[in-house]
Amino acid sequence: MAGNWKMNTGVEEALELARQVQAGLPDRPPAEVVLLPPLISLWPLRQLLRGDDRIGLGAQNCYWERSGAFTGEVSAAMLRSLCDYVLVGHSERRQLFGETDDQVRLKLDAVLASGLRPIVAVGETLDQRQAGRTDDVIGAQARAAFQGLEPDLAARCTVAYEPIWAIGTGRSASPEDAAGAADAIRRVIDSLHPALARQIRVLYGGSVSAESAADLFAPEAVDGGLVGGASLRAGEFLAVVGAAAPV
Ligand code: PGA
Repeated sequence: MAGNWKMNTGVEEALELARQVQAGLPDRPPAEVVLLPPLISLWPLRQLLRGDDRIGLGAQNCYWERSGAFTGEVSAAMLRSLCDYVLVGHSERRQLFGETDDQVRLKLDAVLASGLRPIVAVGETLDQRQAGRTDDVIGAQARAAFQGLEPDLAARCTVAYEPIWAIGTGRSASPEDAAGAADAIRRVIDSLHPALARQIRVLYGGSVSAESAADLFAPEAVDGGLVGGASLRAGEFLAVVGAAAPV
């Protein structure tokens, strides 16, 4: 269960929110919990959470080059000592910052090369959904991410299905749609890495809330969630985590 804080919380707020999550989590949470704060808070949160194996950390983005004259960017290699996961291909990166499938793949390769674990986000727009193209669109995005990957590297990936029309809108996909999309993603993975299709985790994201979480995570095809707005309130995020089907 991953909390994507997006561009919210300064360092002090991030520390406070993480403290609240930490205080409210049971000793054995029903799911792996990962926080994705803004980059500036990764190091302070790393210190705060040191020794607490219930909560992992992730970055929301990275650049694919290792180092050099790329003002404002942070490489996957630099993130290695700060976190465990890196989100790549979030729809806000694709739509607002023009990231292409090829660039997402470069980032994914860089994350894997640095020993971190990518969470690859895929999802369709409302127009694409209404045109009946959901499976094609997310299938193409998944194919671009997984084609030609060494199986041991592919096995370290998590996929997040995030329909764009559901993000931040208060209107989540139905559990059936989330499960159907997860199946479509697994079919693509199965065509490329037959041994891995069942093993790779597929999350659902898009207006997950305390109310919707249990239904959304009930289908067997959905392994967890990528939670945006609801992860900014500790109480609600803890309720979402609590709704995870036990692992
Ligand atoms: P949301 O965001 O839960 O606020 O819809 C999800 C995401 O974009 O990861």
